[in-house]
Amino acid sequence: MLATPSPETRAEQVDMHELAPYVDAPRLRDARSGADGVVLTWEDGTEARLPWLWLRDHCACTACRHPQTRERLVLPRATVAPASEMHLTDGHLQLTWPDGHESRFDGGWLHQRRPGQAAASPLPAPRPWDDAYRLERIRHADFTGSATGERAWLEALIRDGLVLLEEGPLADEEVSRLATRIGPLRATNFGARFDVQSKPNPNNAAYTAIGLALHTDLPNWQHPPAIQLLYCLENDAEGGESLFADGYQVAETLRREDPEAFRLLSETPIDFRFQDEEQDIAICAPILACNADGRVVEVRFNNWIRDTLRLPAEVIEPWYRAYHRFWTLLHEPRHQLDLSLRPGDMIAFDNRRVLHGRAAFDPNTGRRHLQGTYLDRDMLESRLRVLARQP
Ligand SMILES: [Fe+2]
Repeated sequence: MLATPSPETRAEQVDMHELAPYVDAPRLRDARSGADGVVLTWEDGTEARLPWLWLRDHCACTACRHPQTRERLVLPRATVAPASEMHLTDGHLQLTWPDGHESRFDGGWLHQRRPGQAAASPLPAPRPWDDAYRLERIRHADFTGSATGERAWLEALIRDGLVLLEEGPLADEEVSRLATRIGPLRATNFGARFDVQSKPNPNNAAYTAIGLALHTDLPNWQHPPAIQLLYCLENDAEGGESLFADGYQVAETLRREDPEAFRLLSETPIDFRFQDEEQDIAICAPILACNADGRVVEVRFNNWIRDTLRLPAEVIEPWYRAYHRFWTLLHEPRHQLDLSLRPGDMIAFDNRRVLHGRAAFDPNTGRRHLQGTYLDRDMLESRLRVLARQP
């Protein structure tokens, strides 16, 4: 008969001051010490060498890790002498250092962190919108009523950069209540919460009834807000459909079809700027930012708040050509998703990846009112990691 893990068995794990689970990872079967560290073998046959410096630095005793904050309390040294004693007990490693300090390591915890092993993560990888892409729709009641629903919403937003919540209440500030479940609202010069409806004396195109071409919000900030939530309270005016395009996908199309245009947009910083009576928020940054692997990780695109183009004269025309090419690709039907938000819908998107816009609407035919806010991506990822602690 298979033994099910009893509370006693689980209590045998070494407390590594770690909230992510590690109890189900394999235990240690063998440990051999040498001048350059310990060679460990786990029950599943994997083997790895851990240097003495690493082991001393990762001691989880209460002198080395704060038992409440789980933060590291010691500075690593430049060198460390090998442990003077080593034991394997119940699949865990126990070391005694020459100065008498004792360290215990959970075998499963070590298995998760052995060299060459990428950190396990519940976050899905971003997936550009290909032909198979379909907008993920989650019911409001599932999001608020179950961890499964909330997790599905978070995963879709991280993976696709866009997710629709449906059938929510027509309640003022529902967008803030939903956002606060994930993290604090991210405030900008438009406040922590904004209303998208036509209004007199607008200081932003969103507050008019005109059509809005695809754009990202606030690329003039050093850290533009990542996640935008738009909750629809009223939408019976004629027109006003929401438009979206995946910046990652379109940037890859540009790279493939016009590599020189891609190079110019990813290597040439340009100026973005918002100015009104109180503020002047500006930055110089490229339209496309790539990480060390060359993958596009951020799109800044907003033609309204592009500032004076300050480039060497010989780069100006090639840059305009590249910009126009990207603009044209973004607005091609193959890259664009149209959506008519219904009252009670909330669309959420990654503003540093997915561009958004809307068709013009006629304010004389009805009302259109959206409430919006922003969240940091850190909070989204944090919430998903916390939810993933539960199997
Ligand atoms: Fe916008």
